[in-house]
Amino acid sequence: MGNLTFTMIKPDAVRAHQEAAILKHLADAGFRIVALRMHRMTREETQRFYAVHEGKPFFEPLVEFMTSGPVVAAVLEKENAVPELRKTVGATDPAEAAEGTVRRLYGMSKQQNAIHASDSDENARYEWGIHFADSDLFV
Ligand code: CMP
Repeated sequence: MGNLTFTMIKPDAVRAHQEAAILKHLADAGFRIVALRMHRMTREETQRFYAVHEGKPFFEPLVEFMTSGPVVAAVLEKENAVPELRKTVGATDPAEAAEGTVRRLYGMSKQQNAIHASDSDENARYEWGIHFADSDLFV
């Protein structure tokens, strides 16, 4: 299991000015930031990012939402980073996410769920590659 993972604070949370509080939540959970970028994703980047969901009913609305404003993308470092971050972030649906998780605290709906967390080391590398060059990582 690797020590790096990828996260992205979504436009709903950035619009609500919650990005600093969420980064603090991640820092308090023991994650160190090794790359950080605030930007608005293009449709092409978003479609590539969520390619595994292409064809699902929520795909097109998801692309619309994810390109509606800036995201805060970050590569994070911690032992067992992928499962640790998924635990900190909570279930996809904020209503089902455990108490004290980022999505429970900041998510509004299944789509507008405040934050993304990679589900495998391989996907983490793929996903941060859409936002960062290897030379952007301070590892
Ligand atoms: P994320 O972890 O970024 O991965 C895929 C995203 O698709 C997910 O968070 C949600 O934002 C969105 N999503 C997944 N399932 C649904 C759904 N049933 N309805 C709406 N959006 C969804």
